[in-house]
Amino acid sequence: MALTGKKLLLGLTGGIAAYKAAELTRRLVKSGADVRVAMTDGATRFITPVTMQALSGQPVWTDLWDPRVSDAMGHIELSRDRELIAVVPASADFIAKLANGLADDLLSSLCLARRCPLLVAPSMNVEMWQNAATQRNVAQIREDGVVIAGPAAGDQACGEIGLGRMLEPAQIAADIEALLAPKALAGKRVLVTAGPTQEPVDPVRVITNSSSGKMGYAVARAAHEAGAKVTLISGPVALATPPGVARIDVRTAEEMFAAVKKAAPGSDVFVSVAAVADYKVKHPSPRKLKKVNGRAVNLELVENPDILAYVAGMKNAPYCVGFAAESEDLARNAAEKRAKKNVPLIAANLAQDAVGTDDNAIKLYDARGEHDLGRGPKLELARKLIAHLAGVLPSGK
Ligand code: C5P
Repeated sequence: MALTGKKLLLGLTGGIAAYKAAELTRRLVKSGADVRVAMTDGATRFITPVTMQALSGQPVWTDLWDPRVSDAMGHIELSRDRELIAVVPASADFIAKLANGLADDLLSSLCLARRCPLLVAPSMNVEMWQNAATQRNVAQIREDGVVIAGPAAGDQACGEIGLGRMLEPAQIAADIEALLAPKALAGKRVLVTAGPTQEPVDPVRVITNSSSGKMGYAVARAAHEAGAKVTLISGPVALATPPGVARIDVRTAEEMFAAVKKAAPGSDVFVSVAAVADYKVKHPSPRKLKKVNGRAVNLELVENPDILAYVAGMKNAPYCVGFAAESEDLARNAAEKRAKKNVPLIAANLAQDAVGTDDNAIKLYDARGEHDLGRGPKLELARKLIAHLAGVLPSGK
C-alpha cells in the first residue's frame, strides 16, 4: 500500500466539495495512511464531523479551544507528528488566510504552526477563482512553497462552468502519494525542455510546431516531486510553472540551444521534450511581408541545431532522454532515433495521441528493449518515466 503508516492531517474548509473529502479519506485510509481530520466551522455546515470520524477512524477536531488537548496547545500538538497537511477543499477565504498568515481558527493555526509540507485543493466558483485577489493569494502561497492541486475546469455546483472545480479524490490521492513517495532523484539535477519553438518569418509571423508543453511540464513537475533540482527551458506556452522548478523562457531553437548549452554541464539527466522546429527561415524579413495576390512565396529554410544530439555528444554528457512523436511505427522510429542521436532512452508516443491533449500513451525504448508505460494523464506517465529513470541512472551520477 502506497501510504502505509504515513501520518496525514486532512483539513476541510467550507465548500460544497467537502463531500468529496469523505471519498478521499476512504481512499487514503485504504492505502494505509493514518488520517487525522480537522474541520473549520464552515466545513461542518456541509458535512458532519461524525461522517469524517467514521471514515478516518479517529476523533475529528474542529475547535481551537478543544479541552481534549492538554495545555490548550492544539494548534501545535495536532500537526507535530504529521508528514503532510492537505486542505481539501480549500475555499477562497481559507487561501486568503494562508496567504496572509492568519490563524484565527484551529485549521489555519495548524497550517501556520506546521513543520511538514502543505497541499491545498482549491474549490470555488469560477469568478471567485479568477478574481485578482484570489490569483494574488494563490501566487503568494505557491511562492511560500504550498503545493496547489488543481483546480479543474468543468461544471460547477452553482450551475456555472469554468475553472474552480475541485480535483477528483483519485487525483488528489495520487498527488499526495507522489508528495510522500521516497525521493528517488534526491540530489540529482534534471534539465527539461518543453513546448514548441517559434522561428520568425517576419516581425509578426512564425514557423512553429503544435505543442502545448503539457508533457514537458509534467516531466519537470514529476522530477521535482522525486527530489531533483529541476531547470525547465520552455518555448512559448500558456502553462503555470510547476512548483519548485526554475524556468527559463525562450522563443527560437537557437535561444533554446544557447540556454541548454549553459545549463547542461553539471546536469545528471536531460529530458528533451520540446518540439523543436527542425528548420528556421534563413533570412527573416525585418518588415512585415505584404501579400501579393496570385503569387507564390518561397521561404529559404535552413536546419536548426539538434539540441538533443549536441547534449548527448557532450563530454560527461548527462543521461539523455529523447521524446519522439510519430504518426506510425513507434518501435522502428524510436530505434532509429536512439542510434542517430546517440541517446540511451527514447520515450515514444503517437502524435495523434499526444498533441495538445491531457492524456497520452507512452512506450520507452532503451538498451533493454521496450517498456510500455500505458495510457493515462500526462502527469501520471511523467511520474512513471521518472520512476523508470531512477532505476536506470548510473549509480554515482
Ligand atoms: O524532431 P525529432 O523527432 O527528431 O525529435 C526527437 C527528439 O529530439 C526530441 O526529444 C526533441 O526534443 C529533440 N530535438 C532537439 N533539437 C532539434 C530537434 C529535435 O533537441 N532540432
